[in-house]
Amino acid sequence: MRIASLILTAFAVITSAQPILNGTNGTYIGPENGHLVIVGGNLKSDSIWERIISLAGGPDAPIVVIPTAGGEPTYSANFSSAESLRRLGAKNVTVLHTYNPTVADTDEFIAPLLEAKGIFFGGGRQWRLVDAYAGTKTEKAFQAVLDRGGVISGSSAGASIQASFLARGDTADNQVIIGDHTVGFGYLKNAAVDQHVLVRNRQFDLFNVTRAYPEILGVGIDEDTALIVHQNEAEVFGSTYVLIYDGKFWSREGSELKNPPAEKFYFLKSGDKYDLGTRQVIVTNSTGGGDDY
Ligand SMILES: *[C@@H]1O[C@H](CO)[C@@H](O)[C@H](O)[C@H]1NC(C)=O
Ligand SMILES: *[C@@H]1O[C@H](CO)[C@@H](O)[C@H](O)[C@H]1NC(C)=O
Ligand SMILES: *[C@@H]1O[C@H](CO)[C@@H](O)[C@H](O)[C@H]1NC(C)=O
Ligand SMILES: *[C@@H]1O[C@H](CO)[C@@H](O)[C@H](O)[C@H]1NC(C)=O
Ligand SMILES: *[C@@H]1O[C@H](CO)[C@@H](O)[C@H](O)[C@H]1NC(C)=O
Ligand SMILES: *[C@@H]1O[C@H](CO)[C@@H](O)[C@H](O)[C@H]1NC(C)=O
Repeated sequence: MRIASLILTAFAVITSAQPILNGTNGTYIGPENGHLVIVGGNLKSDSIWERIISLAGGPDAPIVVIPTAGGEPTYSANFSSAESLRRLGAKNVTVLHTYNPTVADTDEFIAPLLEAKGIFFGGGRQWRLVDAYAGTKTEKAFQAVLDRGGVISGSSAGASIQASFLARGDTADNQVIIGDHTVGFGYLKNAAVDQHVLVRNRQFDLFNVTRAYPEILGVGIDEDTALIVHQNEAEVFGSTYVLIYDGKFWSREGSELKNPPAEKFYFLKSGDKYDLGTRQVIVTNSTGGGDDY
């Protein structure tokens, strides 16, 4: 507990010193090269799987599926997420798994990642990904997939792991949003990602994070919905909503007429775009309120 709070303190100091520009080259909140597809759990829509395959470079692109968050004793090549990708045309899908960071730090283990153009992290408990891969050659090889223009994707635990702040990372209790693991893989910088948000009534939970770490952007993603990120642009894709906790309020109609409480969040729907650098909705012609009054 004491070690955990020391780590939290160090983390807060680093993030407040560099509130937004904390990337590998200090420029973007999302990856400079490549894309993230961050799915809020219960990934059912073929259109999201197809988007992942297409961002990896098409059916021939090597994609590596990481099931480790799931906590099963072993995994085989027919792990469900790998089968979904194959069913939708991906021809080169490998399942890669270990719980042992010593194994994850070997050249032999990372071999399938060296030419991969896509990663998919399955669901479960996000701390298991940290315990297995943080600080290893495997974690470096994940980042290299983005650097060569590929896609890092994942659902549920595989969504939260993509942010710099690891939400819901407690080893004992998945109800706790600030747990004993708080550092994710950080492809989305200065941010925390929660998942299953509406379906599981988690919409107030990210306030715990934004209260403790005011510089962190809270992103709550509902099921079967993705946030797709490149550099500073994030686009919602899928059947429900993404909730944004940036201390502000926005609505597609009458933002200024509404009277939200002091702690605010707001919803974005499929097609909506958000600028992660300026933390503002990108209003386009299609952002409007529609024809209904
Ligand atoms: C940022 O880093 C990537 C590799 O991660 C590199 O390809 C790119 O040239 C860098 N950009 C700048 C502006 O330094
Ligand atoms: C999958 O991709 C890897 C890396 O590019 C390549 O070596 C391998 O031959 C490919 N396998 C298939 C079945 O296409
Ligand atoms: C997956 O493969 C294992 C053996 O590797 C087999 O026991 C299991 O039935 C298979 N599952 C499915 C859903 O095909
Ligand atoms: C948020 O913080 C309050 C006060 O410490 C705590 O009671 C509650 O369980 C926390 N909620 C989550 C989801 O962690
Ligand atoms: C910022 O970068 C430092 C290292 O450069 C890292 O330790 C820290 O976790 C990062 N913080 C966030 C919020 O990404
Ligand atoms: C947006 O709407 C304006 C006004 O109707 C129009 O002039 C403009 O071309 C539209 N832009 C796009 C990208 O459709």
